Amino acid sequence: MAADIWHDQAAGTWLIQARSTGYAFGLADDGAALRHLHWGPGLPAEVPAALLAAAGGEPPRWERSRSGARELPDEYVPWGGLRFDEPSLKAEYADGTRSTEWRFAAQRLTRQGATVTLELDFTDPAYGLTATLFYRAYDRFDVIERWAVLRSGGGQPVVIRQAHSANWWLPDRAGWRLRYLHGGWGAETRVAQATLGPGKLVLESRRGTTSHQFNPWFSLDPGGQTTERGGEVWSGALAWSGSWKLIYELTSAGHLHACGGVNDFDWAQRLLPGDQFVLPSFAALYTDGGFGAASREWHAWARAHVIGRGDRTGVTAPRWRTAAAPPRGGPAGSETPGPGQPGPGPRLRPVLYNSWEATSFAVSQDGQERLAERAARIGVELFVVDDGWFRGRRHDHAGLGDWTVDESKFPRGLDPLIKRVNSLGMTFGLWVEPEMVNPDSDLYRAHPDWVYHFAHRTRTEHRNQLVLNLARPDVADWVFGQVDRLLTENNIDFIKWDMNRPFSEPGWPAEAGNNPERIWVDHVRSLYAIVDALRAAHPGVEFESCSGGGGRADLGILGRAEQIWTSDNTDAWDRVLIQEGFTQVFPAQTMMAWVTDSPNWWTERRASLRFRFHVAMAGALGIGGDLSRWTEREMAEAAELIATYKLIRPVVQQGRLYRLASITADAYGAHEYLSDDGTQVVILAWWGPSPGGGGRPSLRLAALDPGACYCDADSGQQYWGAELLSEGLPVSGALRGDFGSALVRLARSPDRT
Ligand code: GLA
Repeated sequence: MAADIWHDQAAGTWLIQARSTGYAFGLADDGAALRHLHWGPGLPAEVPAALLAAAGGEPPRWERSRSGARELPDEYVPWGGLRFDEPSLKAEYADGTRSTEWRFAAQRLTRQGATVTLELDFTDPAYGLTATLFYRAYDRFDVIERWAVLRSGGGQPVVIRQAHSANWWLPDRAGWRLRYLHGGWGAETRVAQATLGPGKLVLESRRGTTSHQFNPWFSLDPGGQTTERGGEVWSGALAWSGSWKLIYELTSAGHLHACGGVNDFDWAQRLLPGDQFVLPSFAALYTDGGFGAASREWHAWARAHVIGRGDRTGVTAPRWRTAAAPPRGGPAGSETPGPGQPGPGPRLRPVLYNSWEATSFAVSQDGQERLAERAARIGVELFVVDDGWFRGRRHDHAGLGDWTVDESKFPRGLDPLIKRVNSLGMTFGLWVEPEMVNPDSDLYRAHPDWVYHFAHRTRTEHRNQLVLNLARPDVADWVFGQVDRLLTENNIDFIKWDMNRPFSEPGWPAEAGNNPERIWVDHVRSLYAIVDALRAAHPGVEFESCSGGGGRADLGILGRAEQIWTSDNTDAWDRVLIQEGFTQVFPAQTMMAWVTDSPNWWTERRASLRFRFHVAMAGALGIGGDLSRWTEREMAEAAELIATYKLIRPVVQQGRLYRLASITADAYGAHEYLSDDGTQVVILAWWGPSPGGGGRPSLRLAALDPGACYCDADSGQQYWGAELLSEGLPVSGALRGDFGSALVRLARSPDRT
């Protein structure tokens, strides 16, 4: 269904009609306010006007509450007047004025490709600041995307102290449950929940990156009644890879809102006359199909409109300025279709090998070639050299910043290895961590002022490294130049872009008094611009986002990365839990999952090769074990499992995911993947320590045709859809022993034979 946005000029209301979602707001107080009216199921076009009128016209607030009329909250809240709840915007002027009074000025409605976008301008007449509120809806999706752009139009600067991308009001219901993702290094994306009472709950990152600790995604359901398979869900995700803050507030008037964007902690943005500041996009969706439907909507939308589509808000990075290797066309001239424009979806992820767990920093031409030969034998398609390949990098104390090949490890550069990898039928990938520097590096010795630091304060190291100040144009030029050179000089198809530490001492002494706090935003914008420019200059090179595992997983980075390194914890049993959280919002094809050695280096847990494969097959499959130590039997089993993965890959990576069981609730996990045409079904199930005498889990499948027949591709066994939906798939025979798993492939056949 085509998305649409209707404007009722007489009433001053707008209605966004997404696939089955309605979202409405309207002008009040003669255009001095924009009031929220509705977010939920679709609405007839005339309803928003009626909702605005029912709120009782324009009497003052105290009259309204006495008369019993519903008090409508401000859609996007400029701080000022009697507003005590969390505001959306707080601006400060040189004369000491710190509030905003605005008036509706203009609207623009545009259709481009599969999207329709509404822009509403509100201007503060006394100071000339204009805030443009953006709303974008997508054909065939329930996702609505919002952001704001601030323009300083008056004759004086303005300092932005707080500016949210969006403010999402929820309908008035009781007992809201918030579900969110929390974690740590090696324990990313765990689902947590809280019941929201009066007051606020604030979740944030102050680390300069998205963070392992919390992810900017939420799911809200009223009364805690919603399940995986049914019930109403309002879910949101911020497209930002820097410090962020989301606030969930049940106001004193009894309304719940979820709002936020760039973290205002330690941040301020000064806009000179004529400057424009674009806030990151904040997408959200409504469904009545439960948590599973919300996830499937995120997955399908991300595949169609996010992955590799560049910036969501159309911020165009300047053409990169580098004498060394000017890009072949900048982002503006790039062939990459932006969000909403027609273009091919992301391609299937290749099976990857990465030797980090096998060799750590001890990489060498011979060692990597030996691994590559074994990787090719089992069916790997992309061979990635991780950390340790560059000058001085024998351990994590030195080398970051000196991005030239270590000649003691690769005497003739990377080229002979790459040629060997290519001759084995694989493409080649390389690890880099360009935002970082070790103090023990030539770069740092030459440019100690290039890192974030405060005068007279310790430069706190983490993993022996400091963060480069990407807000500095010369540093950003240098970073672009380093990676651009590597991609120009070598036949590299894939970059694993790492970022292994959070910010500390986020200072820029040379800019003291000149708004150095802008680094929190400028670093991320600069990172985005660099990667966008690299992608434009080297089309075909794909990226993985890594930050000590899954510390940089968000819709912003997914615009410029095909996949995410989910976690440094590759223990298969731990991964079942991490993957359950990851798939709440991110598609399976972005979830890089390696099969590593047993016992696992981190947890020392033992699991069969088959179990480890079955867990990793739930996403984009990679191999991360020491292949030189795998027995011939293991190599043969791995080859067979990789061949099977290639058969199920289109369904896993591009199909619809149904989480049949939850590791937290059911003590085992199970996924069903269903091809878009409904003919191919893949079931993966994983269980941990055997319950001993416990009943068999019921793998009741989802979304099948009850009257159709489904045939097990391996055993030939046939089932009615109705049987699989109500009785479930019998996998009990397989459910023996610790860390067991099942992989079942079903094909829909026209008739039972
Ligand atoms: C991080 C990554 C790992 C690996 C190491 C290399 O921890 O998450 O996968 O690349 O850095 O130093």
